[in-house]
Amino acid sequence: MKTFPLNILILYSDSAFTPWKENINAQTVVSLVQAMSLQHHVTITHFNCMDDCFASFLKRFDLVYNVCYGFENYSQTDIAGWLDANEIPHTSSSYAAQMIAQDKGMLPSLCDEMGLYTPRLLDIEEILQHKGTMLLKPRFGSLHRGIHIFNEHQIPFNLVLDKDNLVQPYINGKEFTVAVLPTEDGKSSVCLPPVEVVPFEQKEMFIAGNASGKTYINYEPAIETTLRERIMNHVLRLHRRIGLMGMSRTDVRVLDNKVYILDVNAMPNIEPKQSFLPNIGYYNGITYAELINRMVNCFHHHYYQRQKEKMYA
Ligand SMILES: Nc1ncnc2c1ncn2[C@@H]1O[C@H](COP(=O)(O)OP(=O)(O)O)[C@@H](O)[C@H]1O
Ligand SMILES: [Mg+2]
Repeated sequence: MKTFPLNILILYSDSAFTPWKENINAQTVVSLVQAMSLQHHVTITHFNCMDDCFASFLKRFDLVYNVCYGFENYSQTDIAGWLDANEIPHTSSSYAAQMIAQDKGMLPSLCDEMGLYTPRLLDIEEILQHKGTMLLKPRFGSLHRGIHIFNEHQIPFNLVLDKDNLVQPYINGKEFTVAVLPTEDGKSSVCLPPVEVVPFEQKEMFIAGNASGKTYINYEPAIETTLRERIMNHVLRLHRRIGLMGMSRTDVRVLDNKVYILDVNAMPNIEPKQSFLPNIGYYNGITYAELINRMVNCFHHHYYQRQKEKMYA
């Protein structure tokens, strides 16, 4: 079994090289190095290309700390798939789990099976008959791109007929984003309390981020204990059901006391000052160093300790 200290490689690709210009920069990489326990040997490399030579270089390390959110035309899921295929131990969820998480079209069947709510997917007949506001988003979208809100009088037919888009009823409720991260010993996962995404201007409708008016995060939302616990329970169950590991962040909306799952992010950004997940951690007394070392413990346990436990079982 590989014990500490570990030879860790931080694998990243700069924002300019990621397909959607994710928030990854030198500051994030420096913070990661500073966060990692001094006992480990840490090396940094930029993603290079998917060839055998680069794979054999990565294989020299005990653990690849993966903050590569894609490279040129490859998505973060493609990168995880390539690392999996080359049996390189890495700190992101598997290709299979990421494929499920990124497919918003799978949420209805998944949630249905688990007894959770998620907005229905409307087919063209239902769209034509729907009274009220609808929301269109790309099936495999991220970072709030390509979202349109419309009602029955303004259906954007060209977008609606595009098979890569989904249409749902607009859930006119409060929005929360919910972080899951590893426990201290890395052997399990915990869900932190939901934080609320609030529009700066009180509007009838809003989209998280900047797409439709700015929003901010309220780290101490007024929310009943039972609802808070229900949200956390649903999100953690979903994280586990999908087979996610390490961190994830799930967006939900609550309407009429029902918790609707909107979106599961398998590789939340971890820019130390700006990204939601580290900030939610700080608010719960978890420093950046603690967060990163929990990730290392989690994947060390997954790749090395668990294997050993299985061998002796
Ligand atoms: N059915 C919906 N009803 C209301 N708002 C929604 C709905 N789906 C998405 N949104 C809004 O759009 C934002 C982005 O959608 P989301 O599904 O999280 O995709 P992305 O992967 O782009 O983050 C959500 O955070 C939420 O504000
Ligand atoms: Mg989202």
